[in-house]
Amino acid sequence: MRKPVVLITGAGGEIGHSLIEQLAAAGRPSIVTLDLNPLQPAFARMVVREFTGSITDATLLDRILSEFEIDTVYHLAALLSTRSEFTPVTAHEVNVEGTLKLLEFSQREAESHGRAVLFLYPSSIAAYGLPDLATKQRAGRVREDDFNTPSTMYGCNKLYCEQLGRYYARFYKQLAADPQSGRVDFRSVRFPGLISAMTVPSGGTSDYAPEMIHAAAQGEPYACFVRPDTRIPFMAMPDGVDALLKLASAPRERLTRTAYNLSAFNPSAAEIHAEVMRAFAGADLTWKTDRKRQGIVDSWPEDVEDLAARTDWGFAPKYNFEHAFRDYLIPTIQARYRK
Ligand code: SER
Repeated sequence: MRKPVVLITGAGGEIGHSLIEQLAAAGRPSIVTLDLNPLQPAFARMVVREFTGSITDATLLDRILSEFEIDTVYHLAALLSTRSEFTPVTAHEVNVEGTLKLLEFSQREAESHGRAVLFLYPSSIAAYGLPDLATKQRAGRVREDDFNTPSTMYGCNKLYCEQLGRYYARFYKQLAADPQSGRVDFRSVRFPGLISAMTVPSGGTSDYAPEMIHAAAQGEPYACFVRPDTRIPFMAMPDGVDALLKLASAPRERLTRTAYNLSAFNPSAAEIHAEVMRAFAGADLTWKTDRKRQGIVDSWPEDVEDLAARTDWGFAPKYNFEHAFRDYLIPTIQARYRK
């Protein structure tokens, strides 16, 4: 007999670490992971099986399918926005073709065990593309269906994969004699920039916020690559993972959208800087704008309308800007680097 499990791809990344911890703490069913690199031992101990390899490796996916009965997939593996601009074709392979493979894998899994597979997909504020700063300021909180004209490969990939998920959930092989849609229960959130006290992201463009905080906590100099007035939404990592878990447990009939905006706070880079300086007096934080990366952040909204997530499945982040820093980020980071 195959064992029923939760599969997490990209498990070694920032969201993956937090998700493994929260699922394990909640005594949730067995976790199987797939990542390019081996998990750190502390996380490896929390999972029943760890597969090392690429999400684009069909043979490896077949092996997982043959051994485990997967009920839920958290498909976190992706190349983030900055890295994707240097290798757009690889980004497409991983972010789009990899996601297609995981959707097809979930479809086959569901057909095999006869239950829908829940498929959680983190999309992103990168799915938006505002044409210029004046429009960004005028737009304020953008709704899910506005400004869906991303300027990055990563944003295009995320937006398209939201649609792919919708296709699997509702229209898969709609002309077949025996249509098989609805086997993949696809649900997606558009994350703002995520800030974790435990890990630093790699390859993203919202990274200036976590990088500033972690550098200051370690007593290292840091030059912020965006202007002080730059404003996009952010969220503390525990709230991000809570949101994924909450969306996963929502009754299907409550959901009115494929992809939901999420927002918790939206400080300017100067406000983040001030909060970090308050916690780490004397930190060596300066400004050195990278014109090109600035262009990407300027195309992202300064805030998003997340009413649908709040109404449909009760999204309610615990941390606003002040609490995120004072109750979560600063104390946890201080403890972390003291070790
Ligand atoms: N954090 C991501 C990035 O910067 C955006 O979702 O690429």
